[in-house]
Amino acid sequence: MKGKRIVIGVSGGIAAYKAAELVRLLVREEALVQVAMTANAARFVSPLTFGALSGNRVVSHMFDEAAGAMDHISWGQDSDLIIIAPATANVIAKIAHGIADDFLTTMTLAATARILVCPAMNTRMYENQATQENLAVLQRRGIFVMEPGAGQLACREEGPGRLPEPAEIVDEARWIVSKQDLAGLQVLVTAGATHEPMDPVRYISNRSTGKMGYAVATMARTRGASVKLVTGPTSLPVPRGVEAERVTTAVEMREAVVKHFAASDIVVMAAAVSDYRPHATKDQKIKKGPEIQTLELVKNPDILAELGTLKGKRNCVLVGFAAETEDLLANAEKKLRDKNLDMIVANDVSREDAGFAVDTNEVKILFRDGKVESPPLMKKEEVADLVLDQAKTLREGRSGHGK
Ligand code: PMT
Repeated sequence: MKGKRIVIGVSGGIAAYKAAELVRLLVREEALVQVAMTANAARFVSPLTFGALSGNRVVSHMFDEAAGAMDHISWGQDSDLIIIAPATANVIAKIAHGIADDFLTTMTLAATARILVCPAMNTRMYENQATQENLAVLQRRGIFVMEPGAGQLACREEGPGRLPEPAEIVDEARWIVSKQDLAGLQVLVTAGATHEPMDPVRYISNRSTGKMGYAVATMARTRGASVKLVTGPTSLPVPRGVEAERVTTAVEMREAVVKHFAASDIVVMAAAVSDYRPHATKDQKIKKGPEIQTLELVKNPDILAELGTLKGKRNCVLVGFAAETEDLLANAEKKLRDKNLDMIVANDVSREDAGFAVDTNEVKILFRDGKVESPPLMKKEEVADLVLDQAKTLREGRSGHGK
């Protein structure tokens, strides 16, 4: 979202307080945020809050002295996206019918920027045919509409009508403003660790949290790909628009990955798959016994190596990750060849700011022709973008056309 110009339109509902978090998240992603509020929204949350969070003046009245004379026209033309959150039934109705009786609705009517509407209201107001028809009108006109969340509402009723979580709105916004250069492609991503059970209460695993793989899935979906995510156990929420299949063991991960492989154009295996599993999983908890206890292990299937064999002449780009603690390049290069990959992303997992569990990574990207890319330390989403750029370039180079 870096450098993207986003206008947040806040209308008068109790969920207006959540728009403050939305502004904070967008500013954290280095978007340039301006806030327009309706007069009723300003009764729920002070414009001062939005001014402080966005670092810009907030306009809440058409004839606000702080507003420029043409702001109601220029804001919607100079921005990349207008997000109306929360969008009340009233503001949705006004936009659907071209009513422009305050700054927010006038700016929306004059806008050439894309518009994302995030409804939030009482369930019966949301389900009312009038609101549903108004929302359908907006969608027909190319305005993006998010589904509200369901649950207990501020009015104590249960049902749909909650403002989507700010992080989900940011995901949706990222998707709308990004280049859709992977549209039409199927991307298969694996993420997280596998758990290899010893008995009903213990398992062998590793420190992978899934952050790297989830970042790849998020960025691929943001860029328009259709994304399947095969994920080991993790506490991360499934990225919006991504189809996730949850697995626990390496054997289950293999089954899921092989099933989706035939339809995939790009495969990125960021999962930390256990190389071994206990030879037998005991039915009951293993009791404390001798001082030294031996656990027999058997080799797990090497999923990526199997895909390297299955790939044949298909134009599917196969990307592996290599988690190393020594001889980073040599070990990664060997995996690239042994598993018949198109590229491998090597990370030094002994570092504190890279590899497992952190939000950043510093990688080397190795290719079959011996080329090595060495980007600096960056956010995992940025690493994901680079990996996808390279995979796309490889695919285009082989198919000889622009997609
Ligand atoms: O999840 P995070 O906390 O964000 O951490 C990210 C990460 C460190 C897990 C990630 O960046 C990473 O390095 N993933 C690969 C971890 C790994 O298993 O590396 P490896 O060198 O052991 O395996 C090489 C490749 O073969 C990997 O793509 C792996 O998915 C694959 N593999 C490994 C073993 C196996 N039995 N089957 C496989 O397919």
